[in-house]
Amino acid sequence: MTGAATPPTIGVFDSGFGGLTVLRALIDRLPHARYAFIGDTARLPYGSKSRRTIARYAIESAQFLVHEQGAEFLVIACNTASALALDAIRDSVPVPVLGVIEPGAEAARAASHTGDVLVIATDATVQSHAYTAACHARGLRVIEKACPLLVPLVEEGWTDHPVTAEVIRIYLDELNAAAASQHMQPDALVLGCTHYPLLRSLIQSSVAPGVQVIDSAAAAAEAAARSFPGVLAAQAGEEHTIIRCFATDSVEKFERLGSRFLGRPVGEVGLVDLGG
Ligand code: DGL
Repeated sequence: MTGAATPPTIGVFDSGFGGLTVLRALIDRLPHARYAFIGDTARLPYGSKSRRTIARYAIESAQFLVHEQGAEFLVIACNTASALALDAIRDSVPVPVLGVIEPGAEAARAASHTGDVLVIATDATVQSHAYTAACHARGLRVIEKACPLLVPLVEEGWTDHPVTAEVIRIYLDELNAAAASQHMQPDALVLGCTHYPLLRSLIQSSVAPGVQVIDSAAAAAEAAARSFPGVLAAQAGEEHTIIRCFATDSVEKFERLGSRFLGRPVGEVGLVDLGG
């Protein structure tokens, strides 16, 4: 049982270190919890893989967090894994699991006055139509667009680079043209990928005036606070946030780039072998 003096451990999973943007939002919202984060950097990107492979990879990370790190709640920070493997992950571990798709769609519903919403995400997320289903369930019209070049650009550290700005402009022009052809008047754009919050200022400057950019990381943290009341109940227990980070490939790269995503040093990163 979770006692008032023992903050629960929240496990956070992503395909890489982009999910540290979700961990950052969680820490802002629930600073007194303990966190175990794993980035499956050896097998990134997930966004171009099949449902079957994504589910297999994601389950291995989820089980590592629960069985080896003692996580009592899981947040699937990876939009691609949330879109394609949430049920499979839930079936594989005995703890509550929260994905980022529903919170992102809910934030879009709260933000949009026109009821017309845009979503940008990886190929796999868009092809799953998980955001479309979640938005339709809330009475929203939606157009999704895959932006496969953005993850590698962020991984390269080109978060404020003219090439990245041009790529974003081209993607958003195509998206806006598709919306216009359907007579939509979108006023919200969901960042449906862990990496896109790092491009927020470039994206913000490329959207039409009046379009609100929605970071599903912040929406997921809010949902976690609601879904995991035990974490809030234990808020008095721990004075400092305790974070343990793990990666399945180069911990040096994770330590170097991870701080950019987390907004603070990631500390010592453990290397984990989850198999091939
Ligand atoms: N974490 C993935 C997502 O949020 C992006 C990186 C990848 O393709 O693995 O969709």
